[in-house]
Amino acid sequence: MQVAVIGAGYVGLTTAACVAELGHTVTCVDVDISKIAMLDEGNVPIRETGLDALIDRNRASGRLQFTTDVAKAAARAEAVLIAVGTPRGAGGDADLTHVKAVAREIARAIRPKTVVTIKSTVAVGTARLIREVIAERRRGLDFWITSNPEFLREGSAVRDFFEPDRIVIGADDPEPAARLTELYRPLIDQGVPLVVTSTVNAELIKYTANAFLALKVGFINDVADLCEEAEADINAVVKGVGLDRRIGPQFLSPGPGFGGSCFPKDTEAFAAAGRKFSCPQPLIETLVTRNQTRKHQMAKRILAELHGLSHARVAVLGVAFKADTDDVRDSAALTIIPILKAAGVSVRAFDPWARANASRIVKDVAWHDDPYAACSGVDLVAILTEWEMFRTLDLSLLARHMRGSTIFDCRNLMDPHHVASQGFRYVSLGRPAVPRVAPATAAKPAGERVHLPTLRGAAVARRPVR
Ligand SMILES: NC(=O)c1ccc[n+]([C@@H]2O[C@H](COP(=O)([O-])OP(=O)(O)OC[C@H]3O[C@@H](n4cnc5c(N)ncnc54)[C@H](O)[C@@H]3O)[C@@H](O)[C@H]2O)c1
Repeated sequence: MQVAVIGAGYVGLTTAACVAELGHTVTCVDVDISKIAMLDEGNVPIRETGLDALIDRNRASGRLQFTTDVAKAAARAEAVLIAVGTPRGAGGDADLTHVKAVAREIARAIRPKTVVTIKSTVAVGTARLIREVIAERRRGLDFWITSNPEFLREGSAVRDFFEPDRIVIGADDPEPAARLTELYRPLIDQGVPLVVTSTVNAELIKYTANAFLALKVGFINDVADLCEEAEADINAVVKGVGLDRRIGPQFLSPGPGFGGSCFPKDTEAFAAAGRKFSCPQPLIETLVTRNQTRKHQMAKRILAELHGLSHARVAVLGVAFKADTDDVRDSAALTIIPILKAAGVSVRAFDPWARANASRIVKDVAWHDDPYAACSGVDLVAILTEWEMFRTLDLSLLARHMRGSTIFDCRNLMDPHHVASQGFRYVSLGRPAVPRVAPATAAKPAGERVHLPTLRGAAVARRPVR
């Protein structure tokens, strides 16, 4: 099948490469000239495991090409997949500016019987709206609008494409549903569940799924706070809860507040849909505000750990909104770092992939190429992203680099007893604080010790700052 994928971002580029891998001929389009130039030069503008090889292979086989010419790509396509951004719009609703712009551009170009599919996450009723936008410009044209929401996760996007939990096709006629089923035929033949439904149902499936997952994250964050007050251990609680097959263990890890390109804006859009249809969604409304305050709460707790120390230095490890991505959109670090800086803290930072994206947004941060260099001379290390490499940090090396001895782990990556035994004050989420066994500087060679009376003398306060 001849396919045009409009948008070469996380979803569009992954979809284009994976659909080509399924055997279709794909033209991937973006208005961003620099992105297409990079791709034409053989470079991939985003970090996603397995994507580079997939693009190389399919480009070499002639099944995948890139262009900035939307109309040309749409003109030869049997299916046009729209995967442009839908950022947070006014009132929390998804901003459809880019989707509408694509609709207007392809309207003049598409041939009769083309299936136009919206993969972007869009407001309920958008497929009908886009049908009108195109129909207004091409009166009498026989074409279809469908909805095919995307569920891939950044960091495992390629694997998620080939091993999805389900494929949802929203179509209001059988013919376009059949066309899209053919697009995904190899996956469906392997047993991937297929849900064929109406366009409006498909749109609501996407928002409901994301709102529900975000609720799990927000809920377990609050449970973690409760664990701290009740002297319980969130890990034990999550284990006991997650083994219940009705609940499952996924999305039950406490953290600094969810971020990324989807959960924050999709929960806001879900709440906006409730208001628009006069059917308020108070659970999600509360979740949206609670998640914002969560990030501020984490910043306050980090500051409290510094006990008003003047000229304090903090190392932030991880600025991506999650591990295995370079995406920093709405990441907790983007809220926490400016609060630390406003309080007079000097911030050093390390992230294996996301430095370039974050450094465009947060200023006055000293970036480093390895975590130990970032921790050099700092009073506190704040782990904000669950990168696997942070789980296995060499603690004795860390102790030699740090001035202070506090690790504030917003991802519960380490074993509290082990960290404490290495002389650190270890603060994590929803777990009892473990007293330091020996000063972290014990491992430092003589002469390298830095005397820091304020921090070292600080009491081990268990009660978190809210
Ligand atoms: N990122 C995710 O994990 C994820 C997962 C599921 C769904 N989604 C949804 O998929 C959509 C795309 O998300 P993303 O993360 O890939 O966004 P992105 O910002 O990474 O990419 C969007 C791309 O669209 C391009 N674009 C904008 N207007 C265009 C136009 N008129 N013509 C051609 N290209 C245009 C941009 O230049 C950009 O490269 C959003 O609606 C998002 O909510 C994202």
